[in-house]
Amino acid sequence: MRLTKAIKTLLICGSVLSMVVWFTAARSSQAVSPTVTNPNPAPVIANADDPGYVGSDACKDCHEDQFKAYSHTSHAKLSTIGSWKGKVTGCESCHGPGKNHIAEGDPTKIISFKNKTSKETAETCLSCHAGKEERNNFRRGEHWRNDIGCTDCHSPHSVTTGKNLANSNVLVTAANAEKPGFSSIRMLKANDPQLCLGCHSEVKPAFSSPFHHKVLEGAMRCSDCHNPHGGFELKQARLSTGGDAACIKCHADKQGPFTYEHAPVKTEGCTACHTPHGSANPRLLKFAAVNQLCLTCHSVDHGVGAVEPSGPQHNQNAQYGNCTACHIKIHGSRTSPVFFR
Ligand code: HEC
Ligand code: HEC
Ligand code: HEC
Ligand code: HEC
Ligand code: HEC
Ligand code: HEC
Ligand code: HEC
Ligand code: HEC
Ligand code: HEC
Ligand code: HEC
Repeated sequence: MRLTKAIKTLLICGSVLSMVVWFTAARSSQAVSPTVTNPNPAPVIANADDPGYVGSDACKDCHEDQFKAYSHTSHAKLSTIGSWKGKVTGCESCHGPGKNHIAEGDPTKIISFKNKTSKETAETCLSCHAGKEERNNFRRGEHWRNDIGCTDCHSPHSVTTGKNLANSNVLVTAANAEKPGFSSIRMLKANDPQLCLGCHSEVKPAFSSPFHHKVLEGAMRCSDCHNPHGGFELKQARLSTGGDAACIKCHADKQGPFTYEHAPVKTEGCTACHTPHGSANPRLLKFAAVNQLCLTCHSVDHGVGAVEPSGPQHNQNAQYGNCTACHIKIHGSRTSPVFFR
């Protein structure tokens, strides 16, 4: 937690410090998984001049299914991109050189993932994909820690039809889930949220509670708020202090800048007061009555710590009222230090 805060602070300080952040980050990744080494170092971005490489067409006749499926993916298009000229693309970019395998018909003469752990397979993918910020922190996430690898969510060859029909925002029903190609967007094995709920069924009820974010309805996705590829934040949430915070993306008016900020919005974040998935309480609040929520922090008999907020000094009857009837601009105000307008 402390490290996370420190990193956040550094990020705010700007790009001058980015090297420091990078250094800290690199060290923390080592701390998490000290023994990680790349078990498949050779094949990736290898040089196509190497005589061991024969090209994907050579695999076509014997592995028609994989070839067909693969030929519709972004991976298959790499060979047409200028910057990939002269580098190994295609089947062999993951499976390694195929010459001996073809010559001898020997399945042991090709890199197979059958007996590899999901971490080992993920290393193959990461050797090309780790560079993007979105996936930089894969080895810091809960998925990595729990042996959930790339191919638990993505199919390496994709499905056999070429049409990327699925838009992740489309509700998956029994009727359309079976359609060929339906889940092929991003080579995902199923749609977000269906993919996620397959393993995280425990969060589903919250999205059916009286007040909820419309994920099951298809209006938004789990990955709008979470980075399935890991990150610094607790719960892999996209909740950085920067402008790209998960909630602010859609609720921009809550970001400010405000002349008078309500401290917890900035320090603890939205989940200090809201349950993000869903709630029995209006406005996704943690408590049924607003005053209950406020008084968890603003209580006269609260301790004496210097950083603690004061309780309302005003008419104590107000304690039983709806605090936000008066303190309307509860997320911050440009004009009122007590958030009246
Ligand atoms: C002459 C036919 C032939 C060609 C060409 C061929 N393979 Fe194979 N491959 C086989 C046979 C036979 C097996 C073993 C049976 C099986 O698993 O289907 C196999 C198995 C494999 C396996 C699974 C190994 C395992 O045990 O898990 C992979 C991966 C593979 N081939 C990749 C490739 C790639 C990549 C190419 C092109 C560079 C290729 N093959 C070209 C015949 C071929
Ligand atoms: C992006 C990396 C990647 C590329 C490119 C790729 N494969 Fe694979 N392949 C895998 C992985 C990972 C598996 C293991 C399957 C799994 O875990 O679901 C696999 C499995 C296989 C198998 C074993 C049978 C099976 O389907 O599980 C064969 C055969 C195979 N691939 C052939 C090919 C051929 C032929 C090509 C090119 C047309 C190709 N692969 C392209 C990653 C790749
Ligand atoms: C040889 C380098 C390389 C390897 C190895 C590799 N990829 Fe890729 N992959 C790329 C490039 C380049 C792109 C296209 C640009 C991008 O989206 O980043 C891409 C695109 C993707 C996409 C986006 C597809 C889309 O339609 O938007 C997914 C998902 C993906 N790769 C998953 C994987 C997985 C899973 C593995 C491991 C089984 C893997 N990749 C291995 C280079 C690679
Ligand atoms: C827990 C499920 C999950 C795992 C594990 C996972 N992904 Fe993804 N991935 C997704 C989802 C969901 C999307 C679509 C997100 C979106 O469209 O914004 C995605 C999108 C992508 C994309 C395309 C979008 C982009 O950012 O360019 C690539 C490339 C990709 N993943 C690669 C990988 C690689 C490589 C791994 C392993 C290191 C991996 N993924 C592991 C769920 C997963
Ligand atoms: C193959 C199973 C699997 C899939 C698919 C999967 N997850 Fe996970 N996920 C796990 C496991 C296992 C953990 C670690 C244990 C736990 O907290 O449940 C985890 C952890 C998480 C956490 C962190 C929870 C915490 O307490 O810190 C989040 C957030 C998460 N997953 C979101 C997603 C999202 C979003 C998707 C879809 C894009 C997804 N997962 C898909 C298995 C999966
Ligand atoms: C509106 C944003 C948002 C959406 C959409 C969302 N989550 Fe979350 N989720 C969060 C936040 C924020 C937390 C952390 C809650 C906390 O710290 O109290 C969280 C926590 C979690 C956890 C950790 C366990 C828990 O309940 O605290 C899991 C697992 C998880 N989410 C999975 C999912 C899955 C699966 C989906 C899609 C079906 C999803 N989330 C959709 C924001 C979201
Ligand atoms: C992808 C866009 C999106 C993201 C990201 C998002 N929300 Fe929402 N949120 C909505 C929409 C749309 C609604 C209102 C409509 C509905 O679903 O009923 C809503 C409703 C709410 C409400 C209830 C408003 C009311 O009037 O009852 C609260 C509170 C809320 N969101 C908080 C959050 C928090 C906290 C986060 C981050 C953890 C977050 N939202 C992330 C789109 C988003
Ligand atoms: C200190 C507690 C607290 C924090 C922190 C907080 N909220 Fe709220 N929020 C409330 C209360 C209380 C209400 C209900 C106001 C009312 O009764 O009208 C509310 C209402 C909302 C609503 C619905 C009504 C409206 O004004 O649009 C949204 C959306 C919302 N909050 C989003 C957020 C987001 C996004 C964050 C994080 C940036 C956040 N909240 C942080 C207490 C909080
Ligand atoms: C998570 C704890 C928390 C919750 C919940 C919370 N507050 Fe605050 N609030 C604070 C902190 C911390 C301050 C800053 C106090 C300071 O600087 O002395 C503050 C400041 C204020 C102020 C400005 C006056 C002052 O004392 O500085 C008002 C008014 C206020 N809160 C009202 C509310 C109301 C109304 C609610 C319920 C909707 C609420 N708060 C919920 C922590 C909280
Ligand atoms: C009837 C309107 C009203 C209601 C309801 C109300 N307040 Fe206030 N609140 C005020 C006024 C008026 C002030 C004093 C403003 C000033 O001094 O400038 C105030 C000030 C505060 C302050 C700043 C410290 C102080 O006393 O000067 C806090 C904290 C606060 N209220 C919290 C709450 C909480 C928590 C609730 C709900 C339990 C609540 N208020 C309900 C009108 C209200």
